Amino acid sequence: MNEIRPSRPNNLDAFWMPYTDNKYFKGTPRMLARAEGMSYYTTEGKEILDGTAGLWCCNAGHGRREITEAIQKQAAVMDFAPTFQLGHPIAFEAAARVAEMTPEGMDHVFFVNSGSEAADTALKIALAYQKSIGQAQRVRLVGRERGYHGVGFGGMSVGGIGPNRKQFGAMLPYVDHLPHTHLPAVNRFCKGQPEHGAHLADALEALVALHGDTIAAVMVEPIAGSTGVLVPPVGYLQKLREICTKHGILLIYDEVITGFGRIGTNFGAERLGVTPDIMTMAKGLTNAAVPMGAVATSAAVHDAIVHGSPSGIELFHGYTYSGHPLASAAAIATLELHRAEDLPGRARAMEPYWQQAAHAMRDVPGVIDVREMGLIAGIELEPRAGKPTARALDVFRRCFDDGVLVRVTGDIVALSPPLIIENHHVDRIFGTLSDAIRAVPA
Ligand SMILES: Cc1ncc(COP(=O)(O)O)c(C=O)c1O
Repeated sequence: MNEIRPSRPNNLDAFWMPYTDNKYFKGTPRMLARAEGMSYYTTEGKEILDGTAGLWCCNAGHGRREITEAIQKQAAVMDFAPTFQLGHPIAFEAAARVAEMTPEGMDHVFFVNSGSEAADTALKIALAYQKSIGQAQRVRLVGRERGYHGVGFGGMSVGGIGPNRKQFGAMLPYVDHLPHTHLPAVNRFCKGQPEHGAHLADALEALVALHGDTIAAVMVEPIAGSTGVLVPPVGYLQKLREICTKHGILLIYDEVITGFGRIGTNFGAERLGVTPDIMTMAKGLTNAAVPMGAVATSAAVHDAIVHGSPSGIELFHGYTYSGHPLASAAAIATLELHRAEDLPGRARAMEPYWQQAAHAMRDVPGVIDVREMGLIAGIELEPRAGKPTARALDVFRRCFDDGVLVRVTGDIVALSPPLIIENHHVDRIFGTLSDAIRAVPA
């Protein structure tokens, strides 16, 4: 007979935590119990100001009643229904709402459950598209150094962050990478988009020269976030777009963090002035209240696959939870909040104050670069000699203990607050951060 052992309270062993130093955490746990507005509250009841919107995702702030009620209502009506060969109205409504927000022409929406699934789905759609237009030789996928596209095999392979790959041996074959766009020697402490670096897109021409007509798609983040906030140089994305169009290569934007108002427009594509063929999204789509991601495509991509296929299933891809009713309800309520409260507009209005506060960090000893756009900022620290990442981790822990949540990646502090942030929150985030940088050993 199966024996069910009672769980022990305070047992931290069972949960193998993601992207975490498990041994350290379980010796010194930092636990969040509640969230509201701009803040978390720990299990001890201490308030922690959220400088990261959770993980770049609670753009409308925490505990939004409208979203909670929509989820509760939907759970009581229909908990789950499949979307394979069946539908439910709320998933169609959610897709239509997303399509209203995406750049013109990006009107078809495939639902997934996370950013990682969105990245892999986008890559598969790109391959299927090329095949459906008679370009089956286009099997190569191009990413960029320092890109992050989640942890599926597609996103990991096309991504360009060494530590995310080196434990896992085999990657997808037929993948290549563009150089990253970080040029500190010429762009350090620049405001918004850096002036130098558009020429780095020419590396795609070099890959075309090398690989001929075998490249299916290029996937980049409009602003690379997880790797420490790399804003695209002026003209870079325009160039990438031109080269893709010239050579029949699809351009995929990974908008998982730049979507839903983060840089002052619905999606990064709008603010940066370049529209891709396919875009991924997740996180802010449901304000993270229920996991959900999506891939939006142009009509050309959708129609080639859907109308170009004989009758029967057109795309052999999908998840049990694609268009899950609770996630769909959360997405509709979230997007309604975006519209009603003009969250992208709020981000735009806050940007000058945020930018000025971010750049004031330049005077803090040990800060070697500041990069920002919209309500994103990356504050790069001089690494501790012989111990990369240790200084930033100490800063993260110190900020948390002083009541502010920041995120660190390498020796970079990445900030991405809820878009409902106000001036006094900005002051507190940067004040606590600068105190922490001064307080921890260099
Ligand atoms: C640009 C980008 N793509 C994909 C992902 C992966 O999303 P998820 O963790 O929901 O799988 C992330 C997560 O931070 C991201 O920033």
